[in-house]
Amino acid sequence: MNIDYSSGVALDTLKADALVLMVSESEVEQGGLAAQWNDKIAVLGKTGLFGGKLNQTYVLPLENQYDFPVIILCGCGDGLLTTDQLRIMTANIARAALRLKAEKIVIQLTGEITLLTEEKSLVTVAYALTEGLILGAYRRRQYKLEQASYAGLAAVTFNKEQQTDEVEREGWIQGIQRGQAFAEATNLARDLTNIPGNLLTPSDLAMAAIDVAERYGLPAEVLDEREIEQKGMGGLTAVGKGSVNPPRMIVIRYQGREQWDHVIGLVGKGITFDTGGISLKRAPGMEEMISDMGGAAAVLGVMEALGRLRPQINVVMVIPSAENMPSANAFKPGDIITTLSGRTIEVLNTDAEGRVVLGDALTYAREWGAERIIDLATLTGAVLTTLGDIATGAVTNDETFLQELIAASRGTGENIWQLPVYPEFREMIKSEVADIRNAAGRYGGASTAGLFIGEFAEGLPWIHLDIAGTAFLSKERGVNPKGATGVMVRTLLEWLLSQNEEK
Ligand code: BES
Ligand code: MN
Ligand code: ZN
Repeated sequence: MNIDYSSGVALDTLKADALVLMVSESEVEQGGLAAQWNDKIAVLGKTGLFGGKLNQTYVLPLENQYDFPVIILCGCGDGLLTTDQLRIMTANIARAALRLKAEKIVIQLTGEITLLTEEKSLVTVAYALTEGLILGAYRRRQYKLEQASYAGLAAVTFNKEQQTDEVEREGWIQGIQRGQAFAEATNLARDLTNIPGNLLTPSDLAMAAIDVAERYGLPAEVLDEREIEQKGMGGLTAVGKGSVNPPRMIVIRYQGREQWDHVIGLVGKGITFDTGGISLKRAPGMEEMISDMGGAAAVLGVMEALGRLRPQINVVMVIPSAENMPSANAFKPGDIITTLSGRTIEVLNTDAEGRVVLGDALTYAREWGAERIIDLATLTGAVLTTLGDIATGAVTNDETFLQELIAASRGTGENIWQLPVYPEFREMIKSEVADIRNAAGRYGGASTAGLFIGEFAEGLPWIHLDIAGTAFLSKERGVNPKGATGVMVRTLLEWLLSQNEEK
């Protein structure tokens, strides 16, 4: 989407499919808008059709006095908005534009935008508004005989009514660029996550990763099933064995510092489809398991944005990818497997496959020099029981590290909630015959699963994010569409860029 900023352009020289006006409740009640709309909007207010309530939109057709056929009225409530409310507001504007099949819209800024919000930095405001537009205009790819002729919302201009100076313009441009990088990275993650299992196998995911790496000249490595086994990655080998689509271990490096030091490891679960394997899942809802590579998609989205923004940090991304299938070759309950770390795992449930592949991936991230690790995974149904699809569950061995990430998440509107790690939970993943077992029963399932992965961090500062509830929604909410959300791409980027400033 092309987004730009202009100022002082007169309405009668604007050409667009819609003009957008952001209107507060008091403006509807008391007027105060440009004279040519005031009367109409007052009628809408009196009749209850449009009151300016937050998140309300209303399409007002115009007589032919301008070169735009309609006005989209967008309510901004009364009172100061948070950055996330701004983001959701433009997401709703984008959705209204999609319903109109608009290709180009102009958002008319009648006053100081920062007066609408608690956030006083213009760059941050422009960044949130931009993100909302791109996130809200997202549409899942369709696979239909008849291709839709409408290509989506392609261009948005923020037009400030009064002529502004160079400083203000710079602020807008900076915010727009950052917003574009963050939101487009999120949409890349959404696109990958929404691809069905038959069209995205582990080798397809590896090719998507190579694609990103090549676009930005980042070194990448893909291990095939032979190399995975030869290196001793028994976890990924075991989970991948049951499928005719063999596993891949995918690595991309981003080096923004002189030396390959202070390396941050980002690890994403890349199960391209999870049937549960021999411990087969029940049929209802199984189609959602196309999203079991949501963690992989998110870390890949992050790499894409790093390639664009080029901060001075070092990051290694590791994706263990496999398809979890039941077959004559599949791994089985009771199997004992040896991981890359040397640790052995007693398999009690083949549907607890994520932690098994992630163990090898954490070890591999360490081998690539990671000094701190964040893993992202659609790991447990238990996190859904606990937090619903409202928050991502976090498990950590380093409180300050997690607090930093949670602080970054506050501005992005992506909720993170810490899960407990009582020593009793640790007891539950011990095995009589192996070092660790992969299932510990239903109770405390999100904590025990996280702790299992934490074993492979071997004392490095580590955060596990369980996005099983937040990566894929059953209906549209906030800036997110139905289906894949690309959750945590923006929070991770926010935190990563803060590391740029610190060191
Ligand atoms: N991929 C699933 C978790 C999941 C559930 C993701 C719902 C998204 C929505 C994971 O591999 C899984 O099957 N976990 C099991 C673990 C259990 C067998 C210990 C679960 O949560 O039921
Ligand atoms: Mn599973
Ligand atoms: Zn899974």
